[in-house]
Amino acid sequence: MTDKKIIFSGVQPSGEAHLGNYLGAFRQWVDLQDDYEGFYCIVDEHAVMGEYEPTDLQHRIFDMAVSLYAVGLDPERSVIFVQSHVSEHTELAWLFNAVTPVGALERMTQYKDKSARYESVPSGILNYPILQAADILLYHADVVPVGEDQQQHLELTREIARKWNARFGDYLKEPEALIGTGGRIMGLDGKAKMSKSLGNTVGILAEPDEVWAQVRTAVTDPQRVKLTDPGRPEVCNVFSLHKLVTDAAKIPDIDHQCRTAGRGCIDCKRILADSIIELFRPFRERADVLRADPAEVWAALSRGADQARAVAADTMREVRSRMGMTPT
Ligand code: TRP
Repeated sequence: MTDKKIIFSGVQPSGEAHLGNYLGAFRQWVDLQDDYEGFYCIVDEHAVMGEYEPTDLQHRIFDMAVSLYAVGLDPERSVIFVQSHVSEHTELAWLFNAVTPVGALERMTQYKDKSARYESVPSGILNYPILQAADILLYHADVVPVGEDQQQHLELTREIARKWNARFGDYLKEPEALIGTGGRIMGLDGKAKMSKSLGNTVGILAEPDEVWAQVRTAVTDPQRVKLTDPGRPEVCNVFSLHKLVTDAAKIPDIDHQCRTAGRGCIDCKRILADSIIELFRPFRERADVLRADPAEVWAALSRGADQARAVAADTMREVRSRMGMTPT
């Protein structure tokens, strides 16, 4: 055990990660790897509420794991694992049912949005944040990097910790949110957050020509209709992506060329695509190695689960004891 602070975050098993996952979350996780003790969980139990194919889920877990390793999360330094491989997550979630008001769950924005999409709403959609609280509190996380869409769930996690502590004694750690440095990453369409299902992003393992095919569709400043119209970098989504992926030394020129109409949008996008291709190159190289040996990827996840379980099992022992289930 070290005296480093503990960081926990979860990611959906959505298959190969995309640029938005990387800029909004993974890049920060990788950067914080040496300063914190990190736990990164692929949350498959959160992903079974809709219709899905079991074999497809398995591939999505695998591809997300490859993505995490490929971007540089290092299993030697961080604990990377699959939620369902550590049964303590659902065990603690059940016990948290005891201290979580239904009203608090019903107030969650994500619940309201998601439940509207089902004819018959699975109860897991409502109880989702209880499992998320268990994910986090099992590891006594100090900080949880989350996007703005998850802040409400983190606040509820804190409330669950407080309620449980009030009832069973001060034990669970109330975590702080760490709001992503990347902020909310807008999709290439400039309309909605980057997301795979909206097709407004690019996979982190995409080949150079696929990157360009996607980036060339990106929406720019709508007022810049003709090549000779001056652009406004401050409202252009392509420019905001440049700031995240292009060498900082090149940014003033990109800004200037846009404002003075010295360079057209398509050329500006070509530079962006090249920056993204360079960013992704080492990811693709690492992923090729990982995919050549799937058994080793599953074995690495299994080692991650063992490390996670060592912590989670201790927490559950203490929780059960304080709740009167085992002799003290
Ligand atoms: N709910 C998160 C999402 O949809 C995923 C998640 C599950 C998570 N458990 C977590 C995130 C714990 C942070 C901490 O993105």
